[in-house]
Amino acid sequence: MRWLYGRVIGRWCSVRFSRKIGHGGAVRGQLITTPIFYVNAAPHLGHVYSAVLGDTLHRHTGLCGEESGLSTGTDEHGIKVQQAAAALGLNPPELCSRVSQQFRTMFDTMGISYTDFVRTTEPRHSRAVCHFWKTLEERGYIYKGTYQGWYCTSDEAFLSEEQTTEKTNSNGDKIRVSVESGHQVHWMSEENYMFRLSSLRPNLLKWLQTDPIHPAPFLRIVQKWLEEDLPDLSVSRQSNRVSWGIPVPSDPTHTIYVWLDALINYLTVAKYPDPSCSPWGPSTHLLGKDILRFHAVYWPAFLLAAGLPPPAKLFIHSHWTCQGVKMSKSLQNVIDPTECIGLYGRDGFRYFLLRNGSPERDCDFNHNSVRNLLNASLADALGGLLNRSTAPSMNPEQCWPCYQCTSVPISVKDQLETLLGALQGLPQLVDQYMTTFQVHKALEAIDGGVRSSNAFLQSQAPWKLSKGTEEDQAWGRCVLYLTLEALRLYGTLLQPAVPGLAKTILDRLGVGHDYRTLKGNPFFAATRGENCGFQGQKLGPDCGLLYHRLLDKEEQGLCKDQTQNGNRCT
Ligand code: ME8
Ligand code: MG
Repeated sequence: MRWLYGRVIGRWCSVRFSRKIGHGGAVRGQLITTPIFYVNAAPHLGHVYSAVLGDTLHRHTGLCGEESGLSTGTDEHGIKVQQAAAALGLNPPELCSRVSQQFRTMFDTMGISYTDFVRTTEPRHSRAVCHFWKTLEERGYIYKGTYQGWYCTSDEAFLSEEQTTEKTNSNGDKIRVSVESGHQVHWMSEENYMFRLSSLRPNLLKWLQTDPIHPAPFLRIVQKWLEEDLPDLSVSRQSNRVSWGIPVPSDPTHTIYVWLDALINYLTVAKYPDPSCSPWGPSTHLLGKDILRFHAVYWPAFLLAAGLPPPAKLFIHSHWTCQGVKMSKSLQNVIDPTECIGLYGRDGFRYFLLRNGSPERDCDFNHNSVRNLLNASLADALGGLLNRSTAPSMNPEQCWPCYQCTSVPISVKDQLETLLGALQGLPQLVDQYMTTFQVHKALEAIDGGVRSSNAFLQSQAPWKLSKGTEEDQAWGRCVLYLTLEALRLYGTLLQPAVPGLAKTILDRLGVGHDYRTLKGNPFFAATRGENCGFQGQKLGPDCGLLYHRLLDKEEQGLCKDQTQNGNRCT
């Protein structure tokens, strides 16, 4: 994260994180956030994807020797949750606690290393919301007015006429729906508290000049929105209609609009309004494109109106679809993450989501592509490389061999130089991809390295060299050293994405915990004639297969006893 955030990183974070790690001086750090999820239904693959992305960026920051926080949580107020509870015959707090716990358990199972899990029903959150509301009021951004227009309960969004369209539903009835989400809207007319959004257009345009939204196509969408009409926003609902929420501090006949309430969660985790933590940020908000308008227009506008800095970065990702249709709770076409963890193991599932998901385009989920990718990348390429280079037949002493520059045959020099050039540049390339929210490209680059290493090992065939002349044998030891060192590099770089598999690799190579970060941890030192402490060291204990090949339905019939449970413990 260094290069991108170097300038803005600062104050409140030093308070928050320096304590945790015991530093005295300023520590650079940032807050990475996922959306907080509605508790109207159980977590599905889409939610897990956002959380895994956030976790990977957070762990990557740590890998680079820097500090960050990762927050996630649940969005528990509003008409949508109120209605979901009523439909189940529960009171809202019961539903909230039950489903919030499901999210927490799911994220724990997925290895999400959040530093805060916020619930909007917590007292610390309502304190932050009330303080924020009063600040907006004091600064003249709130007035009473009449809101007339469409409301989409599914999205908890107020929509203009142009943002809606007519559709025929499955019963043949004509209904109005949101153009963007396709969810049904209802007409409403209410006296509400309004927020002076229209007055903030120039400030929002200025914020956009800091290039805060990635990837770029989403920045252009927001630019277009800001060129259009930007009416003031209703920020309350009458409490006789929406009672499940935080009351307006000065007027309990109104409930604060659930999106204003929800967005403030990012301030709650930054300990707002504690003066020692302000101004808040720098913050990187990760979110799906479905909630772009709330984060790229309303949220910076609220912050600017309250006199706080707008978000540093918004990282937007696209959607997982199922047979071409967006996976969503309301459409009931969701993929159950628990089933995927059972089939692919936690890290297999994480790897697939990160490698095949893309910020810029929607991705269709199907089990065949998961199986093909995981077999090719994890079982065959990475697992094969680890297995071949550590097998007792290849490495009877179970030690890191020594590397001697003088043993490199002239005929291999160019090939080796190209390979080393690519591998030595890999940490920086991966970091560049991670900090620009291209996690799938980071994983592709690592996979490319694994494939080059396999090709190199295959072309040099150390298993033959060990039976040849002295020179052959010396070169064979070099090839093995290079392969183990490359695996140490991949294991290190893969820790943020697949912590369990990466640990298996590093354990097998006998890499101590001090040598698992990117800071002060050179790779391929021996090839530069420098000292490499691994030479002559013992490998770790044999761990069996890194990742079991996944069988298709037919193969499963032939071999019933194999499950991915074996991968779960890795
Ligand atoms: O919108 N593909 O909550 P939500 C990828 N509470 N990601 C998906 C997805 C899919 N098919 N479906 C959901 C809310 N997501 C509000 C947010 S934040 C202050 C309040 C992910 O439960 C994605 O991150 O509807 C999306 O933005 C989020 O879940 C919406 O979750
Ligand atoms: Mg949603």
